[in-house]
Amino acid sequence: MSSSVTGVIQDLERILLTPAQISTRVTEMAARLNVELAGKVVTVVALMDGGLFFVADLLRGLEIPVRLFTLSASSYQGGTDTSGEVKVNWPANIELRDQDVLLLDDILDTGLTLDIISKRILAEQPASLRTCVLLSKRRQRLRDVPLDDAGFEIDDEFVVGYGMDYQGRFRNLPCIGILNPNKPS
Ligand code: IMP
Ligand code: MG
Repeated sequence: MSSSVTGVIQDLERILLTPAQISTRVTEMAARLNVELAGKVVTVVALMDGGLFFVADLLRGLEIPVRLFTLSASSYQGGTDTSGEVKVNWPANIELRDQDVLLLDDILDTGLTLDIISKRILAEQPASLRTCVLLSKRRQRLRDVPLDDAGFEIDDEFVVGYGMDYQGRFRNLPCIGILNPNKPS
């Protein structure tokens, strides 16, 4: 890891997933999608900003034609607890009818975000809908979200890095880690 991120890494209590572990798993997920979606054109609906690195890495592993739409959804008000309210920025030009849709997000926590977005996608009458996340927290969901693939199951702890933030910071960490409770100052 480059020395430029060393200072940020000191804000972590521990590293949960190294860049190599993430890369290996994302490559496996892409390989599975290449088999399952062979012969199709995939319409990816990707949730930002947390999904930024996952989506970029996964899509570069896909060998099938891809169309990409990004959505902004936020259920957190800058802290580590969900506000229970999901705000979605639905693009005006999105066209999902009869498409094979792949919904991607960084992390499945309460399920509120993917529940509202997958219902919205299904209302557009796609040919199919697959949902994949990089991380799935082991916890009771507030909504039961059908998941086709999760990169890693993790304990119910707040994680940052590889796109995921705490109060807007730490997205640029190449690893995924647990924040040091005494930091950041
Ligand atoms: P859900 O609606 O509770 O399932 O939350 C999903 C969204 O909350 C994810 O797309 C993330 O943006 C954010 N989120 C949930 N848990 C974490 C976390 O541990 N770290 C950073 N963001 C999180
Ligand atoms: Mg998110």
